[in-house]
Amino acid sequence: MLKGAVIGVGSIGQNHARVFRELDSVELVGVADSSGPTAAKIGARFNVPHYSDYTKLIDELKPDVVSIAVPTSLHFDVGMEIIKRGIHLLMEKPITSTVEQAEELCDAAKKQGVLLAVGHIERFNPAVMELRRRLREGMAGKIYKIHAQRLSPYPPRIQDAGVVIDLASHDIDLMRYLMDEEIVRVYGEISQSINRDREDVFNGLMRFKGGTIGVLDVNWITPTKIRRLSVTGARGMFDCDLLGQQLFFYENEAAPSQWDTFSFLRGVTEGNVLGIRIQRHEPLAAELGDFVSAVRDGRQPTVTGRDGLETLRLALDFVRSGDSAAVVNEVSAAP
Ligand SMILES: NC(=O)c1ccc[n+]([C@@H]2O[C@H](COP(=O)([O-])OP(=O)(O)OC[C@H]3O[C@@H](n4cnc5c(N)ncnc54)[C@H](O)[C@@H]3O)[C@@H](O)[C@H]2O)c1
Repeated sequence: MLKGAVIGVGSIGQNHARVFRELDSVELVGVADSSGPTAAKIGARFNVPHYSDYTKLIDELKPDVVSIAVPTSLHFDVGMEIIKRGIHLLMEKPITSTVEQAEELCDAAKKQGVLLAVGHIERFNPAVMELRRRLREGMAGKIYKIHAQRLSPYPPRIQDAGVVIDLASHDIDLMRYLMDEEIVRVYGEISQSINRDREDVFNGLMRFKGGTIGVLDVNWITPTKIRRLSVTGARGMFDCDLLGQQLFFYENEAAPSQWDTFSFLRGVTEGNVLGIRIQRHEPLAAELGDFVSAVRDGRQPTVTGRDGLETLRLALDFVRSGDSAAVVNEVSAAP
């Protein structure tokens, strides 16, 4: 069985520790947090050794795999230390704070022969997994538009990232994953509405090579939590509630039931609404399970370091676009 450890056991990291504890394929051997009381509390909860210096944990416990869930501005430094020691790592999203750091991290992991996964967790949401399967089967036909909404109150513990790289990166990654296509341009509007230090409102547009338009509506100023994704195609619209893990399909009755070379779309009319049964599971358990099995089987994880890098590049291009009021032409590769 692989030995696993978690570095940074705050809000999300303590869940990584719990999931490592619950998975059959990995044994949680220890946790580290620079806050001594936090490390002690989580160590005691899972009955494992705890450290305030993560390098000591690595040297003494020699884990095979680690999850890194320290604040974003520390991802690069901690990640490089772990890679240097030849340990496989899952880095929480966003991969790093800058594209240059992400490139260096990916290159270092490759050079050392360690696996680098990134915690873009929505790919493991069972409603997203089902949506992706059905899009691939062609249930929506040609996709015209993909629209994500991620709205919530401001989380005071996030002190080192704006809403685009912290929150919208989830949806940027999802759009790349679902469309599996090159992105050719992006345009963003950002503003600081309530938060004094960093942007807290973001609206973005992106265009895929095949013409699909992506719309992002993300903020930290909404007094309720909304996580929604819709995909509109020739045959109808998928509506996915990411929080509730629910998926519906609204049929376009005007779409021909059989497409052949002579078929064409005559218009859009309301048809049946299908509630799609979702086999629910915890996305974090699926994410860490995928990481551990990728290490065990010597394959790439579902979200690679390069995916994290491309998503960060797009997120920062959106910020650049917002700052300069200009469209950014992209050559963002497909996943
Ligand atoms: N995938 C997701 O859905 C998701 C959700 C929440 C957070 N995150 C990401 O996880 C990371 C952590 O976010 P959080 O909300 O858990 O923050 P947090 O502040 O609650 O936790 C971070 C922890 O890291 C510890 N820490 C700081 N410096 C350290 C160091 N040098 N060594 C060891 N520990 C150190 C802090 O004491 C704290 O306990 C961020 O990058 C965030 O973007 C991802």
